[in-house]
Amino acid sequence: MNYVPAADRYTKMKYNRCGKSGLLLPAISLGLWQNFGDVDTISKCKSILHTAFDNGITHFDLANNYGPPPGSSETNFGKILKEDFEGYRDELIISSKAGYTMWDGPYGDWGSKKYLVSSLDQSLKRMQLNYVDIFYHHRPDPNTPIEETMLALDLIVRQGKALYVGISNYRAKEAAEAFKILKQLGTPCLIHQPKYSMFERWVEGGLLDVLEEYGVGCIPFSPLAQGLLTDKYLKGIPQDARATRNLFLKEADITEDKIEKINLLNNIAITRNQTLAQMALAWILKDNRITTVLIGASKPEQVLNSIACLNNPNFTDDELSTINKILA
Ligand SMILES: NC(=O)c1ccc[n+]([C@@H]2O[C@H](COP(=O)([O-])OP(=O)(O)OC[C@H]3O[C@@H](n4cnc5c(N)ncnc54)[C@H](OP(=O)(O)O)[C@@H]3O)[C@@H](O)[C@H]2O)c1
Repeated sequence: MNYVPAADRYTKMKYNRCGKSGLLLPAISLGLWQNFGDVDTISKCKSILHTAFDNGITHFDLANNYGPPPGSSETNFGKILKEDFEGYRDELIISSKAGYTMWDGPYGDWGSKKYLVSSLDQSLKRMQLNYVDIFYHHRPDPNTPIEETMLALDLIVRQGKALYVGISNYRAKEAAEAFKILKQLGTPCLIHQPKYSMFERWVEGGLLDVLEEYGVGCIPFSPLAQGLLTDKYLKGIPQDARATRNLFLKEADITEDKIEKINLLNNIAITRNQTLAQMALAWILKDNRITTVLIGASKPEQVLNSIACLNNPNFTDDELSTINKILA
């Protein structure tokens, strides 16, 4: 049966302005790093994307290397766009990135103009798109002049292959440098994508201030620490959980100390009438420098559960200080 998006989808989501740009992003965005590769079934991918869009998630985040195998998430997403989202392109914000290893030889990695321009061409072919909304440099490259990488982002926008550009995994000082260069070039940086969760708080040590100063938005990735900041690991490791795949989240990461903290956080979430996942997302969104949280999901129910964090966004001072003590 043909997919028809829910008519009331825009009443279910909050949209936040991305830095000082004209672009609004949904408070919750969906990433396709995992669960959308060739190892996954198209019907599952479709059900997650349909649920997201039906509930007002308009932003889908990809990268050249998402899969596995690398590239397959973009290919599968492209197929689903063609089959189910024809006519809705103007309602979607689609991003891709380049910066990690993608193909053999000296031109398929890091931050040269050669790599970024050809990688985006490949991504557009895989997704069957004429342009992406946001194109990111995925990680800083210590061996390429930052001016060259930023010139490549500027060129891509001028070529019409991306509307906006962003950077990911850049520390505060190198991010400020990138923002200055992009501004001078006339292609201001739209957004920064850092890792940020209750368990990973480095952005609080300067990056968020830099983003505010330059009017750049923020889209934290892995806000649930890949599923750790949920109640799923409290009674052991479920069979279908990400940690069983031992790729990016390993069983060894689920230490007794972590479980103790997760248990205590879960107790606070219960008193707030939220799931721990919802509290962990609300906790990030409480800072108005955050534009949107970038979640992953292996099931449509997780998307619904996570979106419901918007029903209880506020924290008391007592809750915040107890959370800080647990995380210390
Ligand atoms: N820029 C970068 O360098 C970079 C790096 C990594 C990720 N990202 C982006 O960030 C996106 C999100 O990353 P992530 O997948 O690590 O995010 P995450 O939201 O921290 O983790 C997602 C995982 O948490 C579990 N989960 C999600 N919602 C849940 C809920 N409501 N209740 C219980 N469990 C829930 C699921 O685990 P199970 O699979 O176990 O069910 C899901 O696969 C990626 O898709 C990608 O777009 C960017």
